[in-house]
Amino acid sequence: MDYKDFGLVNTKKMFTDALSHHYAVPAFNFYNMETLAAIINAAHDTHSPVILAVSESALKYMGEDLLRGMIWGLNLKDSDSVALHLDHGSSFESCVKAIKLGFSSVMIDGSKLPFDTNAALAKQVADYAHQYDVSVEAELGVLSGIEDENTKAEKSSYTNPDDVVNFVNKTNIDSLAIAIGTSHGAYKRKSENEELRFDILDAVAKQLPDFPLVLHGASSIPQHFIKTINEFGGKMKNAMGIATSQLKRAVEKNICKINVDSDSRLAFTAGVRKILAEEPEIFNPRDYLSAGQKNIYNNCIDEIKNIMNSENKL
Ligand code: G3H
Ligand code: 13P
Ligand code: ZN
Repeated sequence: MDYKDFGLVNTKKMFTDALSHHYAVPAFNFYNMETLAAIINAAHDTHSPVILAVSESALKYMGEDLLRGMIWGLNLKDSDSVALHLDHGSSFESCVKAIKLGFSSVMIDGSKLPFDTNAALAKQVADYAHQYDVSVEAELGVLSGIEDENTKAEKSSYTNPDDVVNFVNKTNIDSLAIAIGTSHGAYKRKSENEELRFDILDAVAKQLPDFPLVLHGASSIPQHFIKTINEFGGKMKNAMGIATSQLKRAVEKNICKINVDSDSRLAFTAGVRKILAEEPEIFNPRDYLSAGQKNIYNNCIDEIKNIMNSENKL
């Protein structure tokens, strides 16, 4: 299936525009109808481009046919500027499968491999993907986190700016995820004062001035969701994310794709916990699922406007 038949686009034009106008294209993860609808409606209502990110485990959860049915049902056109992206692809085969399913962009995550193996794998994926006009993201440096569900990395390592030009030239990838102190999950920080390594971002940007850079693990973990979750029976003490001021600063530099998953998980959970606690008589799942969906929608709008700066960029 060709992604163009779904009305999807790859990320190339998106990133060129994002770089020249200093905004980031939001990459929001989804895994069911509610999360997809919340994200696409938020992007539509703010006139923002958007990357719909699907992890391998989310693809398994939804099933290939249901996923394709949902994307088909969005009735997209090129001008909507929506990409469907495989997040943290773990192998060449996984990327090939996604491309055959109709994804317009793939990430090959070889970040834990030695430099040369990571580069060879990224090149293999880029050579294949480019035949179908699909864009490719790879990663240099390793993210970690207490709850790293994606990379399962125990130790992080920052991206070495001296490696990036060599990596991009060797691989022919279209964008590069870098490690500057973000991490996956809801427990990223012990204090609000921890800063991202802007010195590394600046050094990478100096080496690759016009190249799209990506920030994973960039959820801000809005504290009002944590408060609601804990108030209504949850146990998420000490959850903390990247300060929005830090994310905005990264966007003003060369970061042109920001990945957010945990914030949507929290938004959904807060909405569901609250309505079930406050209205214990309800038992129609549509009542509480829609409360979760509404929270994701509102949070995506908030982040599009106040972090990504991608509002009205269609
Ligand atoms: O980094 C991406 C997402 O947080 C994916 O997580 O594999 O649990 O869907 P997941
Ligand atoms: P968060 O856990 O910070 O939302 O990161 C998501 C991510 O990087 C998806 O690839
Ligand atoms: Zn990630």
